[in-house]
Amino acid sequence: MIKTIAVLPGDGVGPEIIDATLSVLRAVERKFDHSFTCDRGLIGGVAIDSVGEPFPKETEELCMKSDAILFGAIGDPKYDNDPSLKVRPEQGLLKMRKKLGLYANIRPIRTFDSLLHKSPLKEERVEGADFIVIRELIGGIYFGKRGRENGGRTAFDTSSYSIEEIQRVGNVAFELSQKRNKKVCLVDKANVLETSRLWRETIQELSKNYPDVEVEYMFVDNAAMQIIKNPRAFDVILTENMFGDILSDEASVITGSIGMLPSASIGEKTSLYEPIHGSYPKAAGKNIANPIGTILSVAMMLELSFKMLPEAQVIRDAVDTVLSSGLGTRDISLIKPLSTSAMGEKIAENI
Ligand code: IPM
Ligand code: MG
Repeated sequence: MIKTIAVLPGDGVGPEIIDATLSVLRAVERKFDHSFTCDRGLIGGVAIDSVGEPFPKETEELCMKSDAILFGAIGDPKYDNDPSLKVRPEQGLLKMRKKLGLYANIRPIRTFDSLLHKSPLKEERVEGADFIVIRELIGGIYFGKRGRENGGRTAFDTSSYSIEEIQRVGNVAFELSQKRNKKVCLVDKANVLETSRLWRETIQELSKNYPDVEVEYMFVDNAAMQIIKNPRAFDVILTENMFGDILSDEASVITGSIGMLPSASIGEKTSLYEPIHGSYPKAAGKNIANPIGTILSVAMMLELSFKMLPEAQVIRDAVDTVLSSGLGTRDISLIKPLSTSAMGEKIAENI
């Protein structure tokens, strides 16, 4: 099969983890006789530095005409420390999500047997944890009206959701849960927020179309606690944009390293795949970051966008084999850690 992929390395460790991932993709290409054409585009801080904006038109066009998008990371401390800046790398990511209509962000959290001891939680608590966070990605407080009043002394951000926005991501959650344990947990703050009450009403109504799926409702503060206390209790967590941002970072520590976790963002146009970690500026250029989150994101791409199931499985198996042999980058393996590129090559060899 011939497929085109827009490759957006972005900032920080983005370029390194993407390069390591491309060596894995090339191994899949050879083994299965596919052809993946990868064209690079600028996004984030590097795009601001070279063309003055974080999501240039050229990158948008490249994304639109590609079959899928592989994205590295975004963010640079030189922008974080100056809140007065008008142009910021993160705007590139948010603009891309909005323009591509990527309304459902899928973040699978699963433990790796060989890494249970790396989890900050007790092994017996996390063993077998396997759930998915589905985060609404282009609504809520991230995209609501915001501003300053009172001569700049008061600031506001607003969150709003329509029934349609809730339904479309809700359908993704129900459909995914049908392929799993048929349990959806809606996480909200319906005891306080009006948007959350609309989420609850809408999901209650929508759930009638999925009688085989068990639906549970949980307040976000309680969910934050239950994810740590009893992660095995969850199957599919469905939630709005900001709660999903926070809970997916929290959930990622269960596995021992945020560097291991992939994600997919799907919606109206081309889907996007990226690791859930950020640009990790301290490690940039050092060839030490963990590329597995990005490599597993490519496995999600092969499965969800290209329907290449055996190919996706080969990647996951190769990752498991390498991890089981005790190898890892420094975040997961303290004795003789592999570099980012060596990790990519090891996984590619196993393919
Ligand atoms: C994420 C990130 C982004 C978000 C940032 C970089 C804007 O934290 O993808 O989770 O908040 O959505
Ligand atoms: Mg986040």
